[in-house]
Amino acid sequence: MLGITGGIAIYKSASLLRELTFEHGADVQVIMTDSALKFMSPLIFETFSGKPVWTSMFSDKEMVGVRHVEISKWADAVLISPATANIIGKAANGIADDLLSTVISGAGTKTIFAAAMETGMYENPIMQQNIKRLKDAGFGFIDPESGPLASGESGVGRLAESRVIVHSLLTHLKSGRLRGKKILVSAGPTREWIDPVRFISNPSTGRMGFSLAEAASAEGADVIVISGPTEVASPVGAELIKVSTAEEMKNAIVEKFAESDALVMSAAVGDYTYPEAGSEKLKKNGSDLRLNLKRTDDILKAISGDKGDKVIVGFSVETENIIENSKLKLHEKSMDFIVVNNPKENGAAFGHDTNKVSIIDRKGSVEELELMSKGELSTLIIDKVSKLLSGS
Ligand code: CTP
Repeated sequence: MLGITGGIAIYKSASLLRELTFEHGADVQVIMTDSALKFMSPLIFETFSGKPVWTSMFSDKEMVGVRHVEISKWADAVLISPATANIIGKAANGIADDLLSTVISGAGTKTIFAAAMETGMYENPIMQQNIKRLKDAGFGFIDPESGPLASGESGVGRLAESRVIVHSLLTHLKSGRLRGKKILVSAGPTREWIDPVRFISNPSTGRMGFSLAEAASAEGADVIVISGPTEVASPVGAELIKVSTAEEMKNAIVEKFAESDALVMSAAVGDYTYPEAGSEKLKKNGSDLRLNLKRTDDILKAISGDKGDKVIVGFSVETENIIENSKLKLHEKSMDFIVVNNPKENGAAFGHDTNKVSIIDRKGSVEELELMSKGELSTLIIDKVSKLLSGS
């Protein structure tokens, strides 16, 4: 249940809702307060949620049963974003005088507040007491960030970024079954320089790896991400180590693997490097250019001797003999399971928000999955890793 109150940060609620439904496959009902309705029409939220938006305790759309009770029972989580000083004050003091505050009162600690307000309101000692009271009672609370505010001032009070809100929500929802586990994730492409201004690389964006890292962190794991160069925002809840070449990635993984419980190897590691790269730009000389490329080390093969009971998940990109080639990689590289991409499928692999994969395990069973968002796929993969780590 997404509760929307009347603050200027409300404009971010539309993309937040879209992220919850499209990226994470969530089933979302929306409640807007009277003040929220002064800022935005419910239509956009009805469109993204595919459901009527609830705006009042008694009138508008029909619902069988007691509306506020039905909604608070139905929801796995109640996310209030943006959460104004008013709704925080009401919730902290047990006031239930409209639909949203009454739903919060029934949902209790299933509720998470993503606060947004002017710095003065946020720093007001009464507000700080209210926030402390909610946190102490077990409610979720996402602190606002610092930056420019609607008033033109700059200070603490800005709504946290959507990805931070979604990550807190997922963490609040999960059981924390990876608590105490260390998960290493590799992500993105690698770059092999041929001179100071040109390199060989691939179209990996790092999005799949970052999404996997966030899913593992939401389950309570300590997550380290080793990523090649990417434009995508850093993963929430994980330590990020940036590398560039395949060799740098190998060195970082070898070092961190020793202290990890699992490695999810989603990086698209370059298979060839150009050892003769110099410090000056290669100039054209009228004839064709031939580069003598050398094989890079295979990272999974380099660490397979230290596997022990650690879990290793690999990825495979193939365009032909997809399943047979992937099964070979699974065994050669000591993986527990392999996630197989076919970049020729619509919406799959590099650069998309979605992915269509098959998962093959060591017994050779092949699970063909539907097209799904990278967020949903990450949850599914991390779920498998948790099961393997717990031996279930
Ligand atoms: N991988 C690795 N080290 C490399 C290359 C790949 O550890 N130097 C990992 C990838 O991160 C992935 C798996 O091996 O988890 C399979 O990668 P893929 O590119 O599909 O296959 P390759 O083994 O490189 O074989 P090929 O490119 O010939 O298909």
